[in-house]
Amino acid sequence: MKNFMRRVRLLNLFQNVSELDETAINEIKNLNEFIEEEIKEDKFIGEACLPLINGGKRLRPILFLICAKSNGKKIFDEKLFLKKNLPLAAAIELIHTASLVHDDILDRSKIRRGTATANSKYGAQIAVLIGDYLFAKAFQLVAENHYGDEVSLVLSKLVKNLCVGEITQDRSLFKIPTVSEYYEKIHLKTAVFLASCCRLGGIVADLKQSEIESLTNYGINLGLAFQIIDDLLDFFGDVKVTGKALGGDFKSGVITLPIIRALNVSKKSETLKKIVTHNKISDENIFEAIEIIRETDALEYCKMRAYAHIDAARINLPDCIDDKTFFLLESIADFVVDRTW
Ligand code: FPP
Ligand code: MG
Repeated sequence: MKNFMRRVRLLNLFQNVSELDETAINEIKNLNEFIEEEIKEDKFIGEACLPLINGGKRLRPILFLICAKSNGKKIFDEKLFLKKNLPLAAAIELIHTASLVHDDILDRSKIRRGTATANSKYGAQIAVLIGDYLFAKAFQLVAENHYGDEVSLVLSKLVKNLCVGEITQDRSLFKIPTVSEYYEKIHLKTAVFLASCCRLGGIVADLKQSEIESLTNYGINLGLAFQIIDDLLDFFGDVKVTGKALGGDFKSGVITLPIIRALNVSKKSETLKKIVTHNKISDENIFEAIEIIRETDALEYCKMRAYAHIDAARINLPDCIDDKTFFLLESIADFVVDRTW
C-alpha cells in the first residue's frame, strides 16, 4: 500500500503537467527504472536510498526532459531521445537527492518524502557518505555518457551555488534577514538548480544562446516561486501531504519569508522575534510562532510574491518553443505555485 501511494505521488506531478500524456509518463517510468538499476549497483546504497528516491516529485529531471525536447523543429525518435538523455536526467535527480541527504544532516530532519531520513536511520557520519556516493554516481553517469564540458560546467556551477546557499543559510541561523538577503539565499540554494535543469535541456536541444538564456530565466523565476511556496508549507502545510514535519526549517533557525512578513505586520512581533532568534526553540514555542504567523497575511503575501515570479517565468518562455513544450512549462509553473506538497 505504501509503495502504491508513493507511485501515485510520483506520477502525480507528471499527470498534472501533461494531462496523462502517455509519452511523458513512460519517460518518467523509464527514468525511475534507470535510477533504481544504478542505485542497486551497491546493495547498502540501494536499500538505504530507494525509499527516499522513490518519494520525489522528479521536478528537476522533468524540467530537463521537457526542455530537451523544446526544439519543435526536430522530429524525435523517442528511443534515441531516452538513450541520449535519461542518464543526464538521472544524474540531475541523484545530485538533488545527494543534496537533500546532506541538507537533512544540517537541519537534523527526521522525515523526508514521507520516509525516515538517512541521518535518522544510520547517523550523520554514514549519511554524509551516502550523500557523497549519490553525488559521485551522478558525475559517473555524466562522464560515462560523454555529455561534454559545457554540461559538466553547468552541473558543477549549480552544486557550488547550492553549497554557498547552504553555507550562507547556516551562517545566519536565528538571525533575521532582510527580504533581499532572503532572496539571495533562495536564488543560490533553489533557483539556480531549477534554472540549470532548463539550461541543460536547452543545451542538449541545440537551442540558440538567447533561447537558452530565456529558458534559464524561466527556471530562475520558477525556482524562486518554488522555494517561497516551500517555505510557506513549513507553516501552512499538512504533514501527511508534504511528508515533512511542520515548522522544521524554523526549528533549526532558518528564518524565511513568512516569518519576515509576520515580524513586519504582527501585533505580536516582539514575541515572535524572541522565539525565532532564540537558538533553543521548544515545541510549545513552535506552536505559538506558527499561530502568530497564521494570524497575519503572511500566506497571502508570500503567495502574491510567488505568483509574481510565476508570471515572470511565463514571460521568459522563448518564442521558439513548440506549443506542447509551452503548455508543459506553463503547467509546471501552475503546479509549483498551487502545490500542497
Ligand atoms: C533543501 O532546502 C535543500 C537544498 C535546497 C540544498 C541543500 C544543499 C546542500 C546541503 C549542499 C550539498 C550538495 C551536494 C550536492 C552534496 P530546505 O532545507 O529549505 O528545504 P526542506 O524543507 O525540503 O528541507
Ligand atoms: Mg531542510
